[in-house]
Amino acid sequence: MATPVLQVRNLTTRFKTERGVVTAVDGVSFDVNAGETLAIVGESGSGKSVTSMSILRLIPSPPGRIEAGEILFDGKDLLKLSEDEMRGIRGDRIAMIFQDSMSSLNPSITIGKQIAEPITLHRNAGWAEAYRNARELLGKVQIPDAESRLGAYPHQFSGGMRQRAMIAMALACEPKLIIADEPTTALDVTVQAQILDLLKQLTRQAQTSMILITHDLGVVARYADRVAVMYGGRIVEQGPARDIFNRPAHPYTRGLLASIPRIDSDTDQPLQAIEGMPPDLSALPPGCAFGPRCRLATAACVAARPPLTAVSASHVKACFNT
Ligand SMILES: Nc1ncnc2c1ncn2[C@@H]1O[C@H](COP(=O)(O)OP(=O)(O)OP(=O)(O)O)[C@@H](O)[C@H]1O
Ligand SMILES: [Mg+2]
Repeated sequence: MATPVLQVRNLTTRFKTERGVVTAVDGVSFDVNAGETLAIVGESGSGKSVTSMSILRLIPSPPGRIEAGEILFDGKDLLKLSEDEMRGIRGDRIAMIFQDSMSSLNPSITIGKQIAEPITLHRNAGWAEAYRNARELLGKVQIPDAESRLGAYPHQFSGGMRQRAMIAMALACEPKLIIADEPTTALDVTVQAQILDLLKQLTRQAQTSMILITHDLGVVARYADRVAVMYGGRIVEQGPARDIFNRPAHPYTRGLLASIPRIDSDTDQPLQAIEGMPPDLSALPPGCAFGPRCRLATAACVAARPPLTAVSASHVKACFNT
């Protein structure tokens, strides 16, 4: 039986904007099991980052607010913790890796100190011990000559090396869960693969769970155990990565798959982009948010929102017509 490390239930996060109330995350539920990687995929604006920022309680308020839901981690609802307790969890039990290492790292503090600091904060270690740890971690993320690199500043690192340093920071306190939001999007393809391979290898070794946010289905195929597909702030399909790729059940997922080149495909089917625009999250229709772009849509899809229903024991989809 899979043991969930994180259980998100009915998470709803809204923003008050000039254009009205934006429901960025709308009743989202998922589990992350021990040692597994869950990928969250979906096009820009579908609510992936707001979901991860909600888990970490980093939603800027105002304009944002987590309006409903439960986020159970280690048996506790993170939404009920004090800000102090939450600070104790961030960077310690739950670590994060963001896309833009340049804005996540402090430009005026050495890499070594930035990796050592959470160890002194969360692990009660002295600086000497924390630096020893930091050096080891830089070695683990395959930064050569770790000893001398400890004293370097972020701008002295290449983009790929900075991302490795971010991984070292994330691993510093041996978290139970890592949330990686587009961790390699800013890097070129070869470096991207190296970094993701490294992340996979290190999380597997330590049995760390991971939420991997990406819009790259190639990344999903290679690194995820399970996949949640988001559209318009909701999960529209969720299941084991293999099922999502081989038996996608939601027209949106099928569209996503048809729009990426597949090396394993022996057909000559042309790639197809999904036509139409993503939905306006401040004025979602009562029916299926994908309906206006969907070739299978019927009157039923306009009238009511399809609930998530079972495709198999581990696979769900929100569609009336597949
Ligand atoms: N601070 C904010 N104020 C107002 N609206 C916001 C804010 N942050 C996010 N949103 C809105 O929430 C919605 C979801 O955004 P989110 O950043 O989660 O998308 P995403 O799926 O991560 O997209 P991307 O792939 O581009 O990173 C968007 O419509 C966005 O405009
Ligand atoms: Mg995002």
